[in-house]
Amino acid sequence: MTGSFLAGVGGYLPTRIVSNDELAMTIDTSDTWIRERTGIIQRHIADDRETAAFMGAAAARAALDRAQIGIANVDAIIVATSTPDQGFPSTATAIQAQLGVTKGFAFDISAACSGFVYGLSVADAMLRTRQCRAALVVGTEVFSRLMNWQDRSTCVLFGDGAGAAVLTWDDETDDASGRGIISTHLHADGRFGDILYIDGATGQSTKPQKLVMNGREVFRHAVGKLSDAVEEALHANGLTSADIDWLVPHQANLRIIDAMGKRLNLRQDQVVVTVDRHANTSAASIPLALAEAYADGRIKPGHLVLIEALGGGLTWGAALIRA
Ligand code: ACO
Repeated sequence: MTGSFLAGVGGYLPTRIVSNDELAMTIDTSDTWIRERTGIIQRHIADDRETAAFMGAAAARAALDRAQIGIANVDAIIVATSTPDQGFPSTATAIQAQLGVTKGFAFDISAACSGFVYGLSVADAMLRTRQCRAALVVGTEVFSRLMNWQDRSTCVLFGDGAGAAVLTWDDETDDASGRGIISTHLHADGRFGDILYIDGATGQSTKPQKLVMNGREVFRHAVGKLSDAVEEALHANGLTSADIDWLVPHQANLRIIDAMGKRLNLRQDQVVVTVDRHANTSAASIPLALAEAYADGRIKPGHLVLIEALGGGLTWGAALIRA
């Protein structure tokens, strides 16, 4: 085994689906504009019951089911979210309580849309150093609660949902297949904090929160920085893009996804896309896409999977996984 093993992935999406046409009934936009600029057709929107913890716990249960690992074995819960249920306790401890886990540790990570890649990297490092043996990495977001639903430049882009992965480490395993997390590559540059941020914090409860984005600047940074991170990941392992079976990118925008696929010379059918149906679910987007591609049998044991994401911070990163 190369590193910690990705034993199972699961997802949860709110029942309520909101189409572009439905949004166009309340703001000055159109299905055509949204599809052409983003690839988004619809998004799932949480109801009052569907908080980050509720959805994260549901995704975690699905991941544990797929991994066939009992809840009693989980000894680490790492949750990536920008929309926690509360300032504290963390959403991770809320998920821990909902699952009925009573051992190990639980904490949140704040890395915006890169949160799942960051969480995977932290979990992998903690598993390698034997600080835990079965870690849940959860990305869960309710961006609908942050949206200014009158701001057509942002509210059409996001959706709600959660995804989770179970990572395990087994000292007894003598597996020469090379399956597992091969390497993770994280980056941040706080100088660009003002191009994508939440205006207002839970600590400033008098100020309502809202998402602010300079879409063009984010786009400009995304393709360059993600290409560099991907190149770094491949180079570190003596691999080339020809070795990749699947690209599972953060699902912000189909144009960014297509640009990355082209840079890597991948066929369109090697790129897992969910942005059309989920919109941008921030830290949940990669585990939701992984869950779909594992469940429908596209990703098979032994396949080389590349994940990459960029988000507010700026934060960005990439990881290579042998499924
Ligand atoms: N419907 C109709 N018209 C709209 C809408 C809308 N929903 N939103 C903006 N417009 C209008 C603008 O008002 C503007 O009109 P004007 O020319 O009369 O002033 C025109 O469309 C162009 O606006 P831009 O913001 O310049 O549109 P752009 O072509 O840049 O597309 C988009 C916006 C899709 C956000 C683009 O910048 C983008 O893809 N950015 C990448 C970043 C991204 O995807 N962010 C998502 C979250 S960040 C992340 O996850 C990494």
